[in-house]
Amino acid sequence: MSADHEIENLLHEERHFAPSAEFAKQAIAKPSLYEEAKTDRLGFWAKQARKLHWHKPFTQTLDWSNPPFAKWFADGQLNISYNCLDRHVEAGNGDRTAIFFEGEPGDSKEITYAELTRQVKKTANALIDLGIKPGDRVAIYLPMIPEAVIAMQAVARIGAVHSVIFGGFSAESLSSRIEDAEAKLVITADGGFRKGKASALKPAVDEALSAGKCASVKNVLVVRRTNQDVDWVEGRDVEWSQAVGEASDEHEAKPFDAEHPLFILYTSGTTGKPKGILHTSGGYLTQAAYTHKNVFDLHADSDVYWCTADIGWITGHSYVAYGPLANGASQVIYEGTPETPDWGRWWSIVQKYGVSILYTAPTAIRSFMKLGSQIPNEYNLETIRVLGSVGEPINPEAWMWYRKHIGGSHAPIMDTWWQTETGAIMVSPLPGITTLKPGSAQHPLPGIEAEVLDDEGNVLGRGHAGLLVLTEPWPSMLRGIWKDPERFKETYWSKFEGQYFAGDGAKWDEEGDLWLLGRVDDVMNVSGHRLSTAEIESALVSHHYVAEAAVVGAKDETTGQAVVAFVILRQNQLDAAGSDADVSKILRDHVSKEIGPIARPRTIIVVKELPKTRSGKIMRRLLRDVAEDRPIGDVTTLADTSVMDLISGKLSAGASD
Ligand code: WT7
Repeated sequence: MSADHEIENLLHEERHFAPSAEFAKQAIAKPSLYEEAKTDRLGFWAKQARKLHWHKPFTQTLDWSNPPFAKWFADGQLNISYNCLDRHVEAGNGDRTAIFFEGEPGDSKEITYAELTRQVKKTANALIDLGIKPGDRVAIYLPMIPEAVIAMQAVARIGAVHSVIFGGFSAESLSSRIEDAEAKLVITADGGFRKGKASALKPAVDEALSAGKCASVKNVLVVRRTNQDVDWVEGRDVEWSQAVGEASDEHEAKPFDAEHPLFILYTSGTTGKPKGILHTSGGYLTQAAYTHKNVFDLHADSDVYWCTADIGWITGHSYVAYGPLANGASQVIYEGTPETPDWGRWWSIVQKYGVSILYTAPTAIRSFMKLGSQIPNEYNLETIRVLGSVGEPINPEAWMWYRKHIGGSHAPIMDTWWQTETGAIMVSPLPGITTLKPGSAQHPLPGIEAEVLDDEGNVLGRGHAGLLVLTEPWPSMLRGIWKDPERFKETYWSKFEGQYFAGDGAKWDEEGDLWLLGRVDDVMNVSGHRLSTAEIESALVSHHYVAEAAVVGAKDETTGQAVVAFVILRQNQLDAAGSDADVSKILRDHVSKEIGPIARPRTIIVVKELPKTRSGKIMRRLLRDVAEDRPIGDVTTLADTSVMDLISGKLSAGASD
């Protein structure tokens, strides 16, 4: 691991923050959770699952007879949406606010549990009218508006399977995901408000479905948010306001098997093709609800919770659309970006709604930190009592800033490690119990078993860096990769027999706290978003200028990592391509169009050769050295050792932007 020496310094972190007696006294999580789970792990999970409403109670907790294909609570039946909505209304909490919606232009809306339930029932009926049946796939491509949560809940309610695609993905990415899942319906909007402007979404759907692509799609259901003009395909496109508006508000939630599929969420892997991560119902909701309640110390009747993640990511699934609703929480949903109209927006939202639990990403915290504490200091953030962090390691400096300036020097910070595949939080401190240490995610949660192994699979003790594995199945684990069981086995379960290989480096420190050291594969983490080097490389070579491309994630102060691409141009395109600056712009735009703006390389470096081993494998380690402006490491395994001189010479001549 190249960053090992930096990690070494971190591991001598001396700062410890013990929970206050006052916090501990009221905390939801009790230290006995650890003992309970240690003594009887499956019994512990069964107990968590029984906090949900089961139409038909389960008798078997885990079936692990055919690993890695797990079944949790398999003979039980439940309805996800009933658990998130109806049961709170039936318990007398219909008047509690489910969603405080804040639109970017400043419009706002408060939706109670009773009203949200009514809306979801109407939407469920509208989906049934459109011919959606249990098991059918529905693609969702929406901005962060209440309809996003309503759509997910309605799809789940009728036993259909959603595939949410982040609004920042291109028509190209949208189309390949719709095709892979063979979605029957796409739910979208004319657009959403971002950075002070109406930003269109429907045109990307139209393009994704054009020219005979995505033949599985029968209808497109369109929410009007921005009232921009949109093209309309008669017979295919349906107005949300009409279909949902006219639908009946009576809908009885039917039970589905615990292992009934709930959603597919595409994420980047080490190849050019995104993986459709499959999650099912009972185990997923059990762990989403359990972690949401205990990790954030949720007191549903008094807290105002806000997770800033978009529904396009797993965090927006587990900690916006499902976990908080399963727990009857009141949550804020904000449509826009943090800098609109200025960098005080988030803090004005915290003040306006009295947010008490805030869950966000280190990249956002670092952006705020760079701008200075005077901005949050202008707002009253006294209601904040618990903070969360997710997506990448949080550096101790950002952790301290977050605690002091957002958390009033008292709010505990939960650094939560997990993945799209794990479905819910796996490693995190617990508020009121754990003595916090800035930069460390600390301990596997009660019910979760993790180890750090060396390459041969030996268990490493304290003080050694290695590979993170999960040694026991967990309820919200992925059940597979959509249509690709072989890739599922190969990617996660083949490196170490019977154990889940996460793809992250990790280390237990001398005190037994766990540190996450970043990905060990060709997956990058840019602003907490997962990107594949191979996917961006194939986008680059799909441009006619490019003969060959190599992409690396280079350390970046704000975004964690940044995409840096090295490209070799085709000989016959050199004249057409023009200057390096021109090429760079064209190729950056090209990647943005192919995958989405999040994948746009920060830097493109035009080179004549790439460093390769004698067997032809690109040595990304050396390219990373160049991109991070470090002395270049060992080059002796290169087929041609002079290549690196050429490349680093090129960089110092200033080809990057
Ligand atoms: C990868 C998973 C989990 C939801 C958001 C990202 C990195 C995530 C942490 C953390 C260190 C973290 C890992 C992981 N990661 N949280 N608290 N500390 N690293 O989900 O897109 O599936 O990415 O994000 O590298 O493997 P994802």
